[in-house]
Amino acid sequence: MTRPMYQDAAAAAAVSRRTMVLLLLLFTFSLSSFTLVTAECPDKCRCDEAYINCNFEELDRIPERIPPDTKVLRLSGNLISNLKNGAFASLSKIHKLFLSGNEIDNIDTGCFNNLTSLENLNLDHNKIHNLDFLQSKGLARLNILTLDYNEISNLKNGVFENLSKLQSLSLVKNKIENIESGVFNNLTRLESLSLEQNQIHKLDLEMFKGLIKLDTLDLSHNLIRSIPPGIFDSLTSLSLLTLNDNEINNLKNGAFANLSKLWRLFLSGNKIEDIESGVFNNLTSLKYLFLGSNKIHKLDLEMFKGLIKLDTLNLSHNMIRNIPPGIFDSSVSLSRLILDHNPLTCDCNILLFVNALKKNYPKLDVFGDHDPLCYLPVEMSEKSLKKLTENDFHCTPPDVIVVPEKKTVLVGEELQLSCKAVGDPEPLITWAKDDIYLELGQRVQVFQNNTLIIPKVERTDGGQYKCVASNYLGRKSFDAMVNVNGLAENG
Ligand SMILES: *[C@@H]1O[C@H](CO)[C@@H](O)[C@H](O)[C@H]1NC(C)=O
Ligand SMILES: *[C@@H]1O[C@H](CO)[C@@H](O)[C@H](O)[C@H]1NC(C)=O
Ligand SMILES: *[C@@H]1O[C@H](CO)[C@@H](O)[C@H](O)[C@H]1NC(C)=O
Ligand SMILES: *[C@@H]1O[C@H](CO)[C@@H](O)[C@H](O)[C@H]1NC(C)=O
Ligand SMILES: *[C@@H]1O[C@H](CO)[C@@H](O)[C@H](O)[C@H]1NC(C)=O
Ligand SMILES: *[C@@H]1O[C@H](CO)[C@@H](O)[C@H](O)[C@H]1NC(C)=O
Ligand SMILES: *[C@@H]1O[C@H](CO)[C@@H](O)[C@H](O)[C@H]1NC(C)=O
Repeated sequence: MTRPMYQDAAAAAAVSRRTMVLLLLLFTFSLSSFTLVTAECPDKCRCDEAYINCNFEELDRIPERIPPDTKVLRLSGNLISNLKNGAFASLSKIHKLFLSGNEIDNIDTGCFNNLTSLENLNLDHNKIHNLDFLQSKGLARLNILTLDYNEISNLKNGVFENLSKLQSLSLVKNKIENIESGVFNNLTRLESLSLEQNQIHKLDLEMFKGLIKLDTLDLSHNLIRSIPPGIFDSLTSLSLLTLNDNEINNLKNGAFANLSKLWRLFLSGNKIEDIESGVFNNLTSLKYLFLGSNKIHKLDLEMFKGLIKLDTLNLSHNMIRNIPPGIFDSSVSLSRLILDHNPLTCDCNILLFVNALKKNYPKLDVFGDHDPLCYLPVEMSEKSLKKLTENDFHCTPPDVIVVPEKKTVLVGEELQLSCKAVGDPEPLITWAKDDIYLELGQRVQVFQNNTLIIPKVERTDGGQYKCVASNYLGRKSFDAMVNVNGLAENG
């Protein structure tokens, strides 16, 4: 009963071979089942660990069985039309979700409920009109929300209320017409708000209240007609404000009062006619001011006074005829002054402006490549401001050619005093009585022809009248005594 040794060995070897096959099989099976559970990539998607890319695959729904460890999910350029509750239920680790360029017009309200790690959500180029899905517990970490190129027409109070971490909100090219006043109030961390290319026509005074961290606000290409003074008062961090291509027709003092950090201000392509002189006074950080393509016709000597950091000022394509000499004397950082395409009247006043500018820019290179040209007088049209010299004009100080005459009038009668002066630039005429400038009104009037008229003289109107004619080259004045006679006064 002794078995040969080799038989035993053979049997043992057979056993061990079978075990090994079994073990190998087991191992292979467990390996394959392991891949099945943790690393399966959804159909039509490319997966690289936690990054899943399913862009441009004509998908019409969210793929099933997306690995729960997914951190970044790309689903752009597909045909997805609605997002249903539960579609992302297991994706609580997801940080970034890109769904741009789909056909999404409906998003179930609870759809994002479990996306508690989501930081960046891009839904641009879809057909979204309703934003109720944002009021979700899930989006508490959302940092960047992009909704450009959708069909959103109004922003109701509360829609952004729970997005307390939001830093960037972009709503470019929607159909937004109505914005409820408090809709942005809770976005205390917002740094960038883009609302360009919508149909916003009215800005409410309280609209931007609370956006204390806002750095960039873009409202360009809308239908905004006016800027209520105070509306930007909370935006003390703002560095870029874009308001170009709207319908704004005037700028009132206080509109930009609190924007001491503002660096760039775009106001071109509006209908701005009047600018109150102090409106830019507090913009002590402003470097770039764009006012081109408006209807500005008058520049005030003090208008740019506070802009101590101003580098570039674009005033091209406006209705400016003349410019007060010395207007840029305090703009010590100015390196570009763009003035082309204005109907500039070249006279001694403009020459004085040019000469004042030459003190800081001897070669007038501040005009850059955009040479401002004379428009009037006809014989000077198309002449460059750079080439103007004293020989082009006959600049003269005022000369008074009609002087007021000494008069005696009766109480109740009309008093007329004439004064006429010539000079280039044309002199400005003012009136004084007993060395105090006259307050004009119903009782005391001065007409276009500079004649002073008091229709019904009172006893106190008697005194020394003075007509003062002045231009930048000098000033002349003439006195005339007016006596008022009348019935003895009885109180
Ligand atoms: C959200 O996640 C929780 C646990 O994290 C889970 O119990 C729940 O089913 C998920 N919600 C949905 C709608 O699947
Ligand atoms: C939004 O936040 C408020 C206050 O934290 C909370 O009461 C409310 O339930 C939240 N809404 C949703 C939809 O999560
Ligand atoms: C949003 O702001 C309003 C008013 O400022 C406040 O009453 C409300 O509690 C805030 N909501 C949240 C969720 O912080
Ligand atoms: C204007 O700015 C000052 C200084 O930063 C700040 O104290 C004040 O509250 C701001 N005004 C408004 C209306 O926010
Ligand atoms: C400029 O700012 C100061 C304080 O920061 C403020 O008192 C003043 O009212 C502002 N000026 C204008 C024109 O609003
Ligand atoms: C100045 O403004 C005009 C009109 O808005 C614009 O066409 C031009 O490009 C601007 N020039 C510069 C140098 O910014
Ligand atoms: C100046 O104009 C007023 C009102 O039009 C007229 O009454 C007055 O006679 C004129 N004076 C002179 C000197 O032309």
